[in-house]
Amino acid sequence: MTRVIVVANQKGGVGKTTLVSNLGAALAEAGQKVVLIDLDPQSALTAGFGLDPYALSRTAYTLLTRDNVSLASVLRPVGDNLVLVPGSVDLAAAEYQLADAPDQVFRLRNVLARSRVPADCVLIDTPPSIGLLTVNGLVAAGELLVPVQCQYLAMRGVRGLLESIWLIHERFNPELNLLGVVATMYRGGSDHSREVVDELQAVFEHKLFDTIIEDEDTVAKAPVTGKPVLTYRPQSEAAAAFRRLAEEVLHAH
Ligand SMILES: Nc1ncnc2c1ncn2[C@@H]1O[C@H](COP(=O)(O)OP(=O)(O)O)[C@@H](O)[C@H]1O
Ligand SMILES: [Mg+2]
Repeated sequence: MTRVIVVANQKGGVGKTTLVSNLGAALAEAGQKVVLIDLDPQSALTAGFGLDPYALSRTAYTLLTRDNVSLASVLRPVGDNLVLVPGSVDLAAAEYQLADAPDQVFRLRNVLARSRVPADCVLIDTPPSIGLLTVNGLVAAGELLVPVQCQYLAMRGVRGLLESIWLIHERFNPELNLLGVVATMYRGGSDHSREVVDELQAVFEHKLFDTIIEDEDTVAKAPVTGKPVLTYRPQSEAAAAFRRLAEEVLHAH
């Protein structure tokens, strides 16, 4: 069975896109066939694989707004075992175009249900809001992965996020489970980073992944080169951390 994991946090800049790209690459390296889906109109995931989100004709937007578009027709290879459903700026309009569609929150789920998904694992990147695009991701998924930045006030939004998600869970997708919370952008020299991790540990207990993603320049630089850190700097500590996280995700099944 294909696992469908949605990465969500309504706060921007917490490491969602970075997590999708690098966890996806690490799972692919571990032999999993992986499909990444970019649901963000800003399409940083797509740009981070060296594709131009302005120049693509078939994207997640096509998939969500047109009937009978096949998943296969929008897939782009971005690495060994790794394919991408690219995002596009049009996604911003999808929200309004789907406003009257009775199946508006089920569009992505329906696409995945009617397609032969060529993957062991699907990872969905979402925009920094809980609008229709993110809800489509939450409804299509079986598992939720939440990155939390180890910085000031990052913890604040997490409770609100989980409350909203709980409503979506109850209403549209009772099958959605919390896969876990990942602490990201950890600063080794910062007491505050440590405090945030301690607080996450106290709140989420075994749902907090042991692997902590540190704040490292290589992670920020990789997308500029059009690659995940796993292929940009395969020997880096950051790449090793994403490999450990992938192992945890594989065992959490
Ligand atoms: N572990 C990290 N170390 C350094 N920079 C990071 C790390 N994770 C993310 N970044 C950078 O921080 C910014 C926001 O991350 P991103 O993954 O795009 O967040 P989101 O998708 O939640 O908005 C990006 O420029 C990204 O390259
Ligand atoms: Mg993002």
